[in-house]
Amino acid sequence: MLIFAPFFHRDERNLDFAHSFSPEIWEEPRTRDQWPLMPFSAGTAICPGRHLVLLLTSNFLAEIIRAKDVTLTSHSLEPGSMPGLLNNFTLEFELTSPA
Ligand code: HEM
Repeated sequence: MLIFAPFFHRDERNLDFAHSFSPEIWEEPRTRDQWPLMPFSAGTAICPGRHLVLLLTSNFLAEIIRAKDVTLTSHSLEPGSMPGLLNNFTLEFELTSPA
């Protein structure tokens, strides 16, 4: 059985941020009453590496953002223009030193 995560993550019938860049939704834990988002799956198959991933990536990104201004140059994150699916390997960023 395959659970297609974008079916849940980009469902505008249940999520008002389905097609917008909304990192603030992760500031509070989601409750069981909310529409599910499951980047690391859930239940018995949940990714055992999730805490390692979140620790490493958040620290990695924090270090970059602390030192540089980062601009996404390859895609638009404007509402309505986000692609339905995204090949992470096509992302390109420009890093500049803060003024
Ligand atoms: C962005 C990084 C990652 C994402 C998005 C991710 C996502 C997932 C997802 C969705 C599953 C469940 C697949 C399913 O339902 O069958 C899974 C399983 C798993 N992940 Fe990750 N993962 C990531 C990184 C890692 C890392 C770094 C490790 C190890 C250090 C890891 C180890 C595993 C293992 C061992 C399973 C299988 C768990 C099982 O079947 O009991 N993952 N991951």
